[in-house]
Amino acid sequence: MCGIVGYIGHREAYPIVIKGLKRLEYRGYDSAGVMLYDGSDLKVSKTKGKVSDLEERSTKEISTSGTIGMGHTRWATHGVPNDVNSHPHLSNSGNLAIIHNGIIENYEPLKKELINRGYTFKSDTDTEVLVNLIEDVQKKDGLKLGKAVQVALNQVVGAYAICVFDKNKPDEIVVARLGSPLAIGVGENEFFIASDASPFIEYTSNAIYLEDEEMAIVRLHKPLKIRKIKDDSLVDPYVQELQMNLEQIEKGGYDHFMLKEIYEQPNVIKDTYRGRLHSTTGIIQMAGVEDNLEKFLNADRILIIACGTSWHAGLVAEYIIEEFARIPVEVEYASEFRYRNPIITPKDVVIAISQSGETADTLAAIKLAKEKGAFVFGVCNVVGSSISRETNGGAYTHAGPEIGVASTKAFTTQITVLTMMALRLAKAKGTLSNSDYFRYLQELELIPEKVLEALNTNDISKEIAAIYKDASNCLYLGRGYNFPVALEGALKLKEISYIHAEGYPAAEMKHGPIALIDEKMPVVVIAPKQGHYDKVVSNIQEIKSRSGKIIAIVTKGDVQVKELADHVIEIPETSDALSPLITTIPLQLLSYHIAVLRGCNVDQPRNLAKSVTVE
Ligand code: M6R
Repeated sequence: MCGIVGYIGHREAYPIVIKGLKRLEYRGYDSAGVMLYDGSDLKVSKTKGKVSDLEERSTKEISTSGTIGMGHTRWATHGVPNDVNSHPHLSNSGNLAIIHNGIIENYEPLKKELINRGYTFKSDTDTEVLVNLIEDVQKKDGLKLGKAVQVALNQVVGAYAICVFDKNKPDEIVVARLGSPLAIGVGENEFFIASDASPFIEYTSNAIYLEDEEMAIVRLHKPLKIRKIKDDSLVDPYVQELQMNLEQIEKGGYDHFMLKEIYEQPNVIKDTYRGRLHSTTGIIQMAGVEDNLEKFLNADRILIIACGTSWHAGLVAEYIIEEFARIPVEVEYASEFRYRNPIITPKDVVIAISQSGETADTLAAIKLAKEKGAFVFGVCNVVGSSISRETNGGAYTHAGPEIGVASTKAFTTQITVLTMMALRLAKAKGTLSNSDYFRYLQELELIPEKVLEALNTNDISKEIAAIYKDASNCLYLGRGYNFPVALEGALKLKEISYIHAEGYPAAEMKHGPIALIDEKMPVVVIAPKQGHYDKVVSNIQEIKSRSGKIIAIVTKGDVQVKELADHVIEIPETSDALSPLITTIPLQLLSYHIAVLRGCNVDQPRNLAKSVTVE
């Protein structure tokens, strides 16, 4: 995810672009850059770091005058976050400038072809390939910018929202979209372009949202024309009147970042397996795993270290890796591991899981494991983070920036990565039958759709939240793959609503926690059809006979639990191993609504920080 901003009109572009980038920084803040055109010169300034760093640098580096400008705030995908990989990128002639939000999946063959044709590249990005492809088309076919962009886009596979400027055609910016958002603000003889409407809300309330596979030439003194990229047909521009205030827009219309991030899960899970999982050929392609396959296959055991929600994802991975790949797995809190003189040998593989990649305890545990000779593999969300740099190899989740302090989409994308890893190892070891292996690949591909369906439980979750919002305690129970989900559900509730909550393996209840159960105790039971259903039904009966209030997460169409529970939340069916990706959704929604109804600050809960960089 990245943020893009553009301006063409009669005002000074620089302040509009910088302010706009600050509003889009939630989309990524690895690096930032700006391009300005002042009637004769095309000026670019870019830097690793935040928009404030760009501001400091650009005011010293370039003259900031000009009524045409483009800016970018980056969440790195291809190439580490550094100055060179920052956008805008220029074509080899220096005439074209581009900003891009998205991923060009087939950039490697395109790059090879361009290199063969004499092009050179300064950065590691897919975007620099695209701008040179456009230039190449322009030169080869003698086309104007708009047409050249269209021809080039018809050759790329992937996702994009782009702005392209040609200094030989300085009265226009060409924009296009596929998969990444792009809004055009229409003012009085001026246009604003941005990833969402927040950068231009104070200048105009008229916005056009490009649809997928559409492009437009945004030209001064001319009406805006929108065309289909594929067949060049004209589309009637639909101008929307913006109703939202600034704060809402930054959250994409959601009341809180947490809710927005919960709803992003179908897309980010897909982003996480896209290009890696090929269900028809049975190939799982994860460079970090492939490069170190022997290490995993020869490992005596896998040790997973993490904190908080990432630790819960690690517990799910323990079940999956042991079941699929038959490699012994242990999961440890990083904070305990680092101080307990653990036995680690060079035959151990350590997997460190972290959304932020900056968690101090996890970082220290990684250093310790490396000192003892273990191979350390990172599963991180933030590209270029300390943990991703400190580990010997790794695989990124593609959740995009997670701003809400309560982790949601990080959890499901971590499980997605770890499941793909388990499947890859199982394939190499032959520990899963061919039919099971292909079945899991296909099921994983169906998860985004099922998560989308699970999000339909929002209303019922809200109703249940209203009933239990004043509870002082809450128990979460699950078995097998859903025991870690119970822990995660309890963590979500306590951290944002400040209600005391505990997660337990359902069968452990009778060893103590059952003493807590009375008519005031809500008990959330995760009871999908697959897994240890009958055992969980018995646990539900035990709670019922002690007058506990049962909120059950069940598979659609369930009959047995429905008869016993006070409330049921129905979710779509999937296999036991993949069920945490679905069962966790209503638990996120339930805690979100309880916290909102209690008037808590959902995105910034008290005493917490998004990344815990101290012990
Ligand atoms: O960035 P990390 O994944 O390393 O962070 C670990 C924990 O601090 C984090 O998961 C924390 O528990 C969240 N607030 C949970 O929602």
